[in-house]
Amino acid sequence: MNRDTDIVLFGATGFTGKLVAEYLALHAPPEVRVVLAGRSLTKLEAVRSALPPRASSWPLWVADSADPASLAAVVSRTKVVITTVGPYAKLGLGMVEACAEHGTHYVDLTGEVQFIRDSIDRFDARAKATGARIVHCCGFDSIPSDLGVWTLHEHLEQRGRGEKLARTTLVVEAAKGGFSGGTIASLLNALEEARTDRARRKMMADPYGLSPDRAAEPDLGREGDLMSMRFDPFVDRWVAPFVMAAINTRVVRRSNALLGHAYGRRFRYSEVTGFRRGLKGVVSAAGLTGAMGAFMAAVSNDTTRPFVERYLPKSGDGPTPEAIRDGFFRLRIFAETEGGERLRCLVVGERDPGYGETSKMLSQAALTLVLDEARLPARAGVLTPASAMGGLLRDRLVAAGMTFAIEA
Ligand SMILES: NC(=O)c1ccc[n+]([C@@H]2O[C@H](COP(=O)([O-])OP(=O)(O)OC[C@H]3O[C@@H](n4cnc5c(N)ncnc54)[C@H](OP(=O)(O)O)[C@@H]3O)[C@@H](O)[C@H]2O)c1
Repeated sequence: MNRDTDIVLFGATGFTGKLVAEYLALHAPPEVRVVLAGRSLTKLEAVRSALPPRASSWPLWVADSADPASLAAVVSRTKVVITTVGPYAKLGLGMVEACAEHGTHYVDLTGEVQFIRDSIDRFDARAKATGARIVHCCGFDSIPSDLGVWTLHEHLEQRGRGEKLARTTLVVEAAKGGFSGGTIASLLNALEEARTDRARRKMMADPYGLSPDRAAEPDLGREGDLMSMRFDPFVDRWVAPFVMAAINTRVVRRSNALLGHAYGRRFRYSEVTGFRRGLKGVVSAAGLTGAMGAFMAAVSNDTTRPFVERYLPKSGDGPTPEAIRDGFFRLRIFAETEGGERLRCLVVGERDPGYGETSKMLSQAALTLVLDEARLPARAGVLTPASAMGGLLRDRLVAAGMTFAIEA
């Protein structure tokens, strides 16, 4: 692929976009050419001037989601687009279309199931034809889940005994982090679409809502996300809902399908928040379940929603640099093979999940597409992190400080 540049960062002026620009300025190998893009040249200049010195030579390109010609001009000149322009359901489809059309690889941070479904339905075939790898969900949702399960699968493959994964549960054991304005806007928009559009609501509630071929999926009985608290003997602790299960579980199931059900046809996946055994665990699980229910009820109600919105972060706002530095997450994926053997995968991030570690994950995904292109799986279209990059991305993330470790 002969292009003027390697990576265009679209949305460089946003809260997360600035963090990604900083990560690339500090960590991208010197030979990787980077361009900052956004809708305001003045804002782009201000962002670039606050970045580490290496970025001073980075070109600035102007493009607007509402102007398809400006998107085409950008994507035809780069190998990879990183976009942090969201809410993606409102602002993102034009960029997917442009990348699919021009055979340009694409990574984003969406956690919006309805946007990904539209992307698959409208642009998967075209991206396959042009060779574009469209990879959604390259942040905290859903790389730890997707590459954590992929790492368990890889471990079984390497043992060479033909074992497959059956019951598999990701437990959020500990996490500390914040939210930005763009994340809140994306969540509120998704809730509104689910509330007002029945077909959307049905698709979003379907555990296989992002499947490439719904009819080809196995029937494993009820596989909905956990909505209340309970004691789960499989993971031996109290569990409560995990807010990102609604996106992560769909992405992991899509990976299994895109990989030809390589994880197994009895692969049964869920995600929960975990609490220790005993009274303290019960109280914490009940507290989280109640708080999540109250928040969802408040933002789904026309009367209380404007009041709640007043206290939520706005576009451009997010956690402080200290909060990002002090954040972290620790996830453990408990799995059982079809033969009944138990194994686990530990996934750890060393900074705030949604911003510190997310800017790392998104940047490393783009670098994998640029630097490892010759070794990537021969696959194009609307992909998942695991089906597009698997171990190549996981190894880059481990080298960059994340943990993906099998605990047999
Ligand atoms: N998956 C994860 O773990 C994760 C983590 C963090 C964020 N996210 C997602 O990332 C997205 C961004 O979040 P954020 O908090 O960084 O948002 P933000 O601060 O509001 O930034 C939004 C960006 O989009 C740009 N933009 C808006 N309309 C545009 C248009 N018509 N054309 C071109 N650019 C436009 C803005 O440009 P201006 O500066 O010109 O307004 C800004 O650069 C959200 O969808 C969020 O959910 C996901």
